[in-house]
Amino acid sequence: MNNYQKGIGYRYLFETKYYPDNPLKDDLGIIPSPPPYKTYPNASRIKLPKDFYVPQAPLAQTIAIRRSQRKFSPQPLGLEALAFLLWATQGLTSAQGYRAAPSAGALYPIETYLSVHNVKNIPPGIYHFNALEFSLETLKEGFYGNQLAQNALGQNMFKQAAVVFIWTAVILRSMAKYRNRAIRYIFLDAGHICQNLLLAATALKIGACPIGAFFDEEVDKMLGINSQTEMTIYLAVVGKV
Ligand SMILES: Cc1cc2nc3c(=O)[nH]c(=O)nc-3n(C[C@H](O)[C@H](O)[C@H](O)COP(=O)(O)O)c2cc1C
Repeated sequence: MNNYQKGIGYRYLFETKYYPDNPLKDDLGIIPSPPPYKTYPNASRIKLPKDFYVPQAPLAQTIAIRRSQRKFSPQPLGLEALAFLLWATQGLTSAQGYRAAPSAGALYPIETYLSVHNVKNIPPGIYHFNALEFSLETLKEGFYGNQLAQNALGQNMFKQAAVVFIWTAVILRSMAKYRNRAIRYIFLDAGHICQNLLLAATALKIGACPIGAFFDEEVDKMLGINSQTEMTIYLAVVGKV
């Protein structure tokens, strides 16, 4: 056996495979299910416009021209554009609670937070997206671009970005059903969400770049979440180019 096969990454993949004759077994005991939606009931709220402009961009062309953008102009992003991006990533698209991006078992373990830097009618600050209300819950005001750049291994595009999407996973939402295999699904869910963001941004003719390199718990601290149960797993910078 090679050393890399003994490491946690390789072992995780092998120990969470489904086999026809060997169901996934574990000793995790009973796993409690957290509520399906997170909310900050005491936070002040910014209602997002539901009648946002929907760009009529051809899908194939949008896919063809999408590129990660890392340089942004100082022009602010409109609130309508932000509303469209949030709808495209995590918006409710059915009365049954299904959303724009698919999710394993429709469990929706991913939460969306924003670091707003330069968006019309929204003071800079950290916000949580409330998908049910289609609103932003204010967690704290202030410009967090410099801190984010530092927490993302010095990637300076955070300082220029109009808004940063920060996706966390409420691990047990998915683990209660899928046990250890849930971790695979959580990252797949996040990929779908981010790709919707990238395509929606391209359709709006604005730039975005996915970010996987960051000091996990430093970002958790910025959001004020409990790293034991909810973890930052993916970011994306967005702005006009
Ligand atoms: C999971 C993931 C993590 C990424 N992390 C970073 C990152 O930390 N910094 C960065 O500048 N680009 C990051 N990228 C963007 C990739 O560098 C980019 O997608 C790749 O170079 C292909 O270019 P394209 O997106 O323009 O097609 C990431 C992309 C993915 C999918």
